[in-house]
Amino acid sequence: MTLRTERLRVGVLASGRGSNLQALLDASGRPEYPAEVVIVISDRERAAALDRARAAGVEALFVNPKDFADREAFDLALVAEFTARRVGLVCNAGFMRILSSAYTRAFSGRAMNIHPSLLPAFPGLHAQRQALDYGAKVAGATVHFVDEGPVDTGPIILQASVPVLPNDTEETLSARILVEEHRLYPQAVRLFAEGRLSVEGRRVTWQ
Ligand code: GRF
Repeated sequence: MTLRTERLRVGVLASGRGSNLQALLDASGRPEYPAEVVIVISDRERAAALDRARAAGVEALFVNPKDFADREAFDLALVAEFTARRVGLVCNAGFMRILSSAYTRAFSGRAMNIHPSLLPAFPGLHAQRQALDYGAKVAGATVHFVDEGPVDTGPIILQASVPVLPNDTEETLSARILVEEHRLYPQAVRLFAEGRLSVEGRRVTWQ
C-alpha cells in the first residue's frame, strides 16, 4: 500500500460564471494533481460558480455581505470559513469585491488572483475593453499573488499573451484571453502546491 500525502487544500472566491473555477475543479479531479478545491465561497447567492462547485461535489457557500457591518467584518468571516477548512491557498476567480488588508494579511503569500490583462497594464474592471480602447496590439492574462495594494498589484506568477486582432470586439478578445486563463491558473496552483515558487520582493521564480 502506498501512503499519499494530503493534497494542498484550496479555497476559491468567485462572484460570477466561474469558468476559471471550473478549470481548477477539472484539474482537482485528476488524482495526480497536487491540489484540490475544498470550498467555494461567493458573495452572490445565485452565482453560477456555486452551481459548478456543487456539481463537482465541492462545498459551496454563499456569504452575504449584507449580514456584516462593514467590509472588514465580511472579509474576516471569509478568513474564518477558509481557516476552519484548513485551506492552504485561496484563489480569487472573478471575485468582484476588493479585499481589505484584514484578509490580505491573513493570507499573505497564500492568495492568488487571475486578471485578464498583461499587468501592470490595465488593472481593474473591463481590462479587455481598456486594452482595445488603448489600441494595444498584444493582450493577455496574469496570475499574481494578492498583496495589500489597491487592485491587481501583487507579484506576478505567470503570464500569457494573445494578439489583439483588427476586428476584435470586447467579446472576441475576452474569449481568446480566457483560453489562456484556464491554462495558467491550474499551472500556477500546481507550482505553488509543489512548493516550487520562490518570491523575492516582486520577483517570483520557480524551479
Ligand atoms: C476572468 O476574466 C478573470 O480574469 C477576471 O474575471 C473573469 C472571471 O471569469 N478576474 P470566470 O467567472 O472565471 O468565468
